Formats: sequence, structure tokens, C-alpha cells
Amino acid sequence: MSQRFSNLIIDWYKINKRDLPWRDTSDPYKIWLSEIILQQTRVNQGLPYYDNFISHYPTVYDLANATDDEVMRLWQGLGYYSRARNLHECAKSVVRDYGGEFPNSYKELLTLKGVGKYTGAAIASFAFDQVVPVVDGNVFRVLARFFDVSDDIAQASTFSKFFDIANSLIPTENPASFNQALMELGALVCKPKTPRCEICPLNQECLARIHGKQADLPVKKKKIKVKNRFLYYLIWQNGEKLAMKKRGANDIWQGLFDFDLFESENALTPEEVLEKVTEKFVHAEVTDISEPVTHILSHQRLQAVFIQLKNPNHNVLKETGLEYYTRQQVEELPKPRLITNYLTSKNI
Ligand code: ADE
Repeated sequence: MSQRFSNLIIDWYKINKRDLPWRDTSDPYKIWLSEIILQQTRVNQGLPYYDNFISHYPTVYDLANATDDEVMRLWQGLGYYSRARNLHECAKSVVRDYGGEFPNSYKELLTLKGVGKYTGAAIASFAFDQVVPVVDGNVFRVLARFFDVSDDIAQASTFSKFFDIANSLIPTENPASFNQALMELGALVCKPKTPRCEICPLNQECLARIHGKQADLPVKKKKIKVKNRFLYYLIWQNGEKLAMKKRGANDIWQGLFDFDLFESENALTPEEVLEKVTEKFVHAEVTDISEPVTHILSHQRLQAVFIQLKNPNHNVLKETGLEYYTRQQVEELPKPRLITNYLTSKNI
């Protein structure tokens, strides 16, 4: 299968590939530059940027010696400006640490600034004929459809599954063409919304086409937005006792016990915390304000600050459902991990 798969796509690629300037070369500098630009934009929009960079900086030395401002100006319009800074840093490092020659191993390429698994594999294979598969969005799509793989490609752990599949298909004698062919097939034929299966060299064996599942693959689940919350716990002390209350229904911690609590839209400084607390509870004596503690839940990122205080107003506390518990009782009550961790850290 692997031989047939690669022959089919390489034969197709030879006839159908687009004529692009970074394909006429095995110069790792040009390949690297094109890949960094193409991470940022589509081929048509990227082409003038690539040409402009190459005419200003024909070699990695020229880019390394450029001013920051000029590099940023040439990058202008592509967005995500940290990529431009990484690009410049990487060029300087190739000149300084590698005598102006890009390293030729995948592993070492990965140590360069801004070079991730995809770009590292692209440079290693296109420039140095290393047998390393590239896995980008196009490759995910072609392989997910051909082999009917329904793993969620939004999950970072799915990458290695597709890397392994591509690795089992990539031929040792022509890894560069194989990689380019797979990406080009994804870009021109196995398109996200309107795949052109009728002209696809893989259409006889493609499981998605056979089962009519092209629209369902690859599976890309939406990332659930993580909500930031800023929690301020008031630990009222009455002699040896602490005030706690049970969390009610429809609560992430339903049935567990925690302390008096207020929430803020944004993070507060210790001074702001003190001001807020003493304004509301005039007799309160604040004895400790903790550093913020981060606690990650599935859809929430909590930042909690624990405030220890004395001289509670007992009536107010009762109204809010708080009750005093001895240290022994506090120890035994069911509590969220966030609370237990704090109590343990403070030896309470
Ligand atoms: N997109 C990302 N890299 C590419 C390349 N080398 N050729 C065409 N499209 C690409």
C-alpha cells in the first residue's frame, strides 16, 4: 500500500504541481523563509513577500545583518509580528552558531527559533532529503480522509498519530517529492469544503470517498473557551475556629465546603484587596493575604487569593450561611482541592 500510495501522489504531483520559486531550489535558507511566510498566509499572498525578502536578503547573512526595523517593515501586513522577530533571531543564530549553514538534521533544526515540527520536517526533507514526514493541515486532511481517521486534529496528541501514518508511507528514495505531493494534493484537490474527488489520484481507495464521509473528515472539534475567574476567599477566624459554608446546587463544587468568597472581574493587587475588605468589614483585622494560586478546571482558570482575617461580625456571617468549625472539623469536611492545598500549605 505505501509504495502504491506514494507512487500515485508523486506521479500526480509531477504533472500538476504549481510552479513556485521555493520549489526550484534546495537552498535551506529559501525553503525556511518560504515556510515561515506560508505559516502566516496563503501562497498567492505570500509570494510577493517571499520575493521581496529574497531580493533584499539573498542569503541568510544579509538577513542576519539587517536592522530590526527593516525586517519588520518587510513583514508588515503579514501580522503576528513575533514571527518576524523569530525569523530575524533565527537568521542571526544560523550565522553565529552554525557558520551560516542551516543544520541538516530534523532534531537540530527543531532547536532553531520559530522552527517547529512542521517547518523542521519541511526543511529537512526539501533541502536535505531527510526522510521526515511533514504534517500540516493539508496532510491531516488527506490522511484523515484516505484512512478514515476520526481523531480530533485540534488535540495536540493527535499529531503523533498522523506523523506515524505519514512516516509509514514516506519513501526513503524520494521523501521531498512525497511530502510536497501530499501537501499539494491537499491544497489543490482534497480541499476542505469542495474536494475534487473525481480528479484525485487516490479516489479508488479513499475510505472517505467510498463511504461519502468527505465532509465529516478530518474531525476538528472547537476549542472550548476557558474562562478566567478571580476568587478572593475570606477565611474568618474566631479563636481557633474557621468559618466555612457548603456550596449549593448548580455549582461546580456542589456539596463541598469552602470559605466566604467574593469574586472580581479582574485581578486585584493586595492593596486593593485590603481596601475592599476593610471598607466592607470595618472591624475586620486582616492578618494574611496569600499570593494568587492558579487552579485549572476543564473550562475555567481560577486565580484564588486567600485572605485570613479576625473580628468577624457574627450576625452577618450567619446570614451568608457561614458556620464556625474547629480545625479538626475543617480537616474532616469535604473540600475542593484548591482549598485543601491552601490549608496544607499554610499548615492549618
Ligand atoms: N504551504 C506551506 N508550505 C508550502 C509549500 N512549500 N508549498 C506550497 N504551499 C505551502
